[in-house]
Amino acid sequence: MYTDCVMDHFNNPRNMGEVEGYNAEGTVGNAKCGDIMRMTMRIEDGVVKDVMFKTFGCGAAVATSSIATEMVKGKTVEEALALTNKAVVEALEGLPPQKMHCSVLAEEAIKAAIASYREKTPDLT
Ligand code: FES
Repeated sequence: MYTDCVMDHFNNPRNMGEVEGYNAEGTVGNAKCGDIMRMTMRIEDGVVKDVMFKTFGCGAAVATSSIATEMVKGKTVEEALALTNKAVVEALEGLPPQKMHCSVLAEEAIKAAIASYREKTPDLT
């Protein structure tokens, strides 16, 4: 049902936890299942220097958050904002159709974190 890549990220999640001294934070929930994902970031000079996640959710949500953090780490804020759930699913080599909604959480959490940063530091974006 799940690709090896999904299982790898589920069994060995990357960047799990909370960034120390984070300056961006986004928490989003999935209305369909009630699962919750939180992303924290340290953004400096328009670049996502560090990003970590905490996911209270299913295995697909854990795997998508894990790979999404790897995909935006070191990227500019604009590049991070451009990350789509489709790109995340492709990077995971696919998700079962009934699990596609789980990947939306990662995209939304990244966007919510960056939005919180921009609210706090409008001059630095
Ligand atoms: Fe809730 Fe996957 S079932 S995020």
